[in-house]
Amino acid sequence: MPSARITVSTSAPIGAIDRRVFGSFVEHLGRCVYDGIYEPGHPTADEQGFREDVVALVRELGVTTVRYPGGNFVSGYRWEDGIGPRSERPVRRDLAWHSTETNQVGLHEFAHWNAKTGSEPMLAINLGTRGELEALDLVEYTNLPTGSALSDRRAANGAEEGFGVAMWCLGNEMDGPWQLGHRDAVDYGKLASRTAKALRQLQPDLQLVVCGSSNSRMPTFGAWEREVLEQSYDDVDFISAHVYYQPIDGDVDSFLASGVDMDRFIEAVGATIDHVKAERRSDKQVHISFDEWNVWYQHRYETVEKIGGIDNWPTAPRLLEDVYTVTDAVVVGSLLISLLKHADRVKAASLAQLVNVIAPIMTEPNGPAWRQTIFHPFAITSRLASGEALRTEVAGPMIGTKRFGDVPAVDAVVTRDAGTAAVFLVNRHRTDAVTVEVALHGMGSPVISETATIADDDPDAANTRDAQNRVVPLANASATIGDDVLTVTLPPVSWTAVALTTEG
Ligand code: AHR
Repeated sequence: MPSARITVSTSAPIGAIDRRVFGSFVEHLGRCVYDGIYEPGHPTADEQGFREDVVALVRELGVTTVRYPGGNFVSGYRWEDGIGPRSERPVRRDLAWHSTETNQVGLHEFAHWNAKTGSEPMLAINLGTRGELEALDLVEYTNLPTGSALSDRRAANGAEEGFGVAMWCLGNEMDGPWQLGHRDAVDYGKLASRTAKALRQLQPDLQLVVCGSSNSRMPTFGAWEREVLEQSYDDVDFISAHVYYQPIDGDVDSFLASGVDMDRFIEAVGATIDHVKAERRSDKQVHISFDEWNVWYQHRYETVEKIGGIDNWPTAPRLLEDVYTVTDAVVVGSLLISLLKHADRVKAASLAQLVNVIAPIMTEPNGPAWRQTIFHPFAITSRLASGEALRTEVAGPMIGTKRFGDVPAVDAVVTRDAGTAAVFLVNRHRTDAVTVEVALHGMGSPVISETATIADDDPDAANTRDAQNRVVPLANASATIGDDVLTVTLPPVSWTAVALTTEG
């Protein structure tokens, strides 16, 4: 059996892990909101119509921030449609997803759901079809103490106290030609800068995210980040990154190596941030908000699901309802490793999305809610990864891939907190198990407290309504520790977490 050896650098941590890295995303898209988190007739619905069974799963998932209400949806959204008496809210056509938006869920309902799930809202502002004035109105309504027209209107609508939203996205994917209000980098950078300056006059301590690229294959990637930051560096706190992976032309080896691509993406954006910072001789550090990432079988949306027809605007259609396999869960686990390996750069991230739409949680109307395979690596990582991330060096087998060349079969990150640590590992090899030794010297006297591996003889196995727990993480009986060296066998196509106590 092939083997790998991992050394851990304990003296120079990568950086503190921001809990916001375990964020997610709720968009008015398909059945994410309607028939997802919100279904008034459901047996578990609360007094406002939110499903308690979904709330329990969101809590178990360990989601911290939740980005809302889009996505592409936000670029045509009027936030005022979602406030006031529900019976008076307008029904609109959502151009992004060719759907009907009933506006039964808006700002107040989302804040109620945030409180139930213990999540922090991260609101996206429409900078596609709207501008600074509407952004100012939204922040006034959302955050300001009563005593102004819009904050008083919020109070009249039942929320005397502001919602205290700290994090705001200045638009969504403005580099994408599909985006309503798409514009070039300089135009967008100027708009983002003006909007940020205006918002800070209302509330200086807002945390603002300027749009980076929709993915690193965009023709404008790199130049977009540089030009946008040249206009807005002093005004913002984060630049966003988005990426979705899928096997292309059946190339599973490259798909399993998606983490390598995410590493390069983060490092490229990091280099661009540093370039603009140096150009401006600035002391300020802009971080990355990786606020959309996941596996998404996008070709299925493009070829099968996309809604068309000028008279066809369904409400809460089944869109982007990918059913995830073991392989997908391993890729998601490896992407979490990539995010943690860049804990110095990535200070917020959102698994896109949360319920039904490319989601860890699925629901049926009037029926059950269940965990997809990708739920598990996310929930375990969110629970175990805290404190700071430590650099690892992996020596072991390599895999040849079409897209990324030779990549290490095994990737890993170690996290350390007071009295605890955790090791996260992926084996991307499709046929070979790999026995890994992780040298944990200098980390107290580590003792294994928990192990979990996601693997299966059938890498295409999935959880469905009828087999909700077909794929679950299992304890890894091979894990042992001796002389501060952890030894564990990683099955082919697998993701593993080992939790440790380090005081002894
Ligand atoms: O998450 C689905 C869509 O992907 C989002 O609406 C958009 O921002 C991205 O292109």
